[in-house]
Amino acid sequence: MKFAASIAGLALALVANAEPVMVHDAGNDLNKNGKLDVYEDPAQPVSRRVADLLGQMKLDEKIGQLWQGHMMADSEQVFADRLRQGEVSSFLDGSSLIETPVMRNKLQHIAVEQSRLGIPLIFGHDSIHGFRTIFPIPLAQACAWEPELFERTQAIAARESAAAGIDWTFAPMVDLARDPRWGRIAEGFGEDPYLGALDAVACVRGFQGIPQSGTVDSNHVAACLKHYVGYGAAEGGRDYNTTEISEYTLRNFYLPQFKAGVDAGAWTVMSAFNCLSGMPASANRHTLTEILRDEWHFPGYVISDWDAVYELIPHGVAADEAGAARLALTAGVDMEMVSSNYLDTLKAQVKQGTVPESVVDEAVRRVLTVKFAMGLFDNPYVDEARCQTAYLRPDALALAREAAAKSCVLLKYENGVLPISKQAKKVVLIGPLAEDAAELVGCWSSRAHAGDIGSFAVGLREKLAADAQMIVARGCSIIEPDSGKTRRQLGDPTPIIEQATGTNEIAQAAALAGTADVVILALGEPRDWSGESSSRSDLGLPGRQQELFDVVAGTGKPVIVVLFNGRPLALPRIQEKAAAILEAWHPGIQGANGVADVLFGDVDPAGRLTTTFPRSIGQVPIHYNHFNTGRPGTGEYKGQYVDGPSTPLYPFGFGLAYTTFEYGPVALNVPTIKAGDILTAKVNLKNTGTRAGTEVAQLYIRDVAAFAGPRPVRELKGFQKVLLQPGESRDVTFTLSDKELGYCDTKGNWLVEPGKFQVWICRDSASGQPVDFELVK
Ligand code: BGC
Repeated sequence: MKFAASIAGLALALVANAEPVMVHDAGNDLNKNGKLDVYEDPAQPVSRRVADLLGQMKLDEKIGQLWQGHMMADSEQVFADRLRQGEVSSFLDGSSLIETPVMRNKLQHIAVEQSRLGIPLIFGHDSIHGFRTIFPIPLAQACAWEPELFERTQAIAARESAAAGIDWTFAPMVDLARDPRWGRIAEGFGEDPYLGALDAVACVRGFQGIPQSGTVDSNHVAACLKHYVGYGAAEGGRDYNTTEISEYTLRNFYLPQFKAGVDAGAWTVMSAFNCLSGMPASANRHTLTEILRDEWHFPGYVISDWDAVYELIPHGVAADEAGAARLALTAGVDMEMVSSNYLDTLKAQVKQGTVPESVVDEAVRRVLTVKFAMGLFDNPYVDEARCQTAYLRPDALALAREAAAKSCVLLKYENGVLPISKQAKKVVLIGPLAEDAAELVGCWSSRAHAGDIGSFAVGLREKLAADAQMIVARGCSIIEPDSGKTRRQLGDPTPIIEQATGTNEIAQAAALAGTADVVILALGEPRDWSGESSSRSDLGLPGRQQELFDVVAGTGKPVIVVLFNGRPLALPRIQEKAAAILEAWHPGIQGANGVADVLFGDVDPAGRLTTTFPRSIGQVPIHYNHFNTGRPGTGEYKGQYVDGPSTPLYPFGFGLAYTTFEYGPVALNVPTIKAGDILTAKVNLKNTGTRAGTEVAQLYIRDVAAFAGPRPVRELKGFQKVLLQPGESRDVTFTLSDKELGYCDTKGNWLVEPGKFQVWICRDSASGQPVDFELVK
């Protein structure tokens, strides 16, 4: 069965009506021999506890452990009865039901105390880039080129989530993305598997902590690597769409982030919606079992994405619910999210012999292993008082501000325009995102409250002297009401009734600009124009924002453009005519302050793009780490498009500082190495400007002749953030070993092959001069 809707108030009613039938006592009742069962004894190893419990479970109870319920259009009693019958393994908090842990504990009491075996529920929620303290979208945070930042922000997301009674977050999203039309590009790290793998590990560590004894403590939550796999390569950028990825590309680009997250100890993985190379990802035995289990030895469990088991029917690979359940379970999906095909059909299928009970047992074993390892059997309830002081703590807010500043990428500036002087006397701020604070939150608002978010106008105002004047004008609507498109309010699915751009609004804004010392344009996308089911067929600014820019810039005043968006946009006219462009992304609840810190020079712009910005939508998909063709062409227009360049507007790795840096030639310690040896590559980096600044020195390689398949024209294999004072220079040294020089064949073997390599140390993926070295046998 498929479930689409949720009824938020239902759980409250449900619990109020629950019968207080005590059949089990939270894991400490004695068995008939006067002892605790093995599974109830915290001193026993997890594997013994799992085996003991599994041995006591009836088939219905086992199948129940494979279902994640959502508050759905069931009657209250049915849901409570399901809990009592042991038919629910997990609870998905997609609504604002679990704002406080009271509800969690009440549901948990039914599961633990009123079901036969007292198996606790595990509560899942999407804490993607924050819970109550919302940080910049993941794509933005990735641009900090500082994986530790993710570890810190996700640790706060975990702390706040756990205080609310959440045990498990459906994050990080580690899908590689090369197509900015795809709205979910906002939720990932960008287009690079090396950086993406580091970010994946950092997120897992942030969410789960670094466990002492295999448990996830009360300040942390289990992580979920999603969406396994290939989801980011959707045809036409259309969400949920088919992907065709060769085994070679899958293993070298799409899988490494998942592998890194598994190796870092992520407890769960989510199977994706998309069809991957001829088989839906949620029925794909090759990726779910052969790779994830057999090759990587993943010990946790796999949950399907929402209704993804049911969706095997519309995908056309299952005739009915029973077929969908059978396909998904035998492929390796252990728990079904929301749709109830396992619950409804597996018992009969086991009885008929079409699904072996051993397959059910194996899936249950994985689910129980995680529940035991996380300590849920021994500590099923959470402290209900903690949430009163857990949210928006000063350290969380300070980090949200730091993260917003570090996520900013300076795309352009003319001398003297930035940083803005704090002595400016008249600032005119124009644009639909000047005062609309809620849009800054980004695609996953989780438990954000509108009152927690500062608007960009307020953030800027705080930087100016008391006697300075700041005038704010909307200029135009963020999207036009007649566009046939909508945007939603924070925490409310009702579409906003857009206020159309008035006839003279743009002209009035331009007139105001004419009177200013500093003109800032705050432009971008509504927050719900990226994220799930929010793909775009155009990469320009929505509504009349481009026209607004053209008219304001047409006054001749230098214009500083600040972009708040969830994906790379194609804005060649803005690149040409703006005096400065700061990519601020959707920066979270402290975004206004963090972005103002950068604009006024209190924080260095040290962000660098982790996703290529195209010149036009016709260039996508576009990414720096592509393979060469046999006819690469030599000039801009050669060989690729007849009507425009094939180079991007801003390449991967790009970003400016308020100073300039000079790179010396790359020096290698030896020209030739053997497999297993370590090569050292060094460059002298100098700050040639008059301000201190942070450079992100980037190391790229190319394997010039690879035998199992071509290697990209460049691959990132190292980076360092280096702070240099004016005039200061420093040697920046990297090492290269088999780990960086190898690649995967289609069987997953790691190959380090002899031959010629090139290495660059440079400012971005499109600059620098390579030097050669040779790897010999
Ligand atoms: C999304 C997942 C999310 C899940 C639960 C799905 O629609 O694709 O990313 O974790 O819902 O909310």
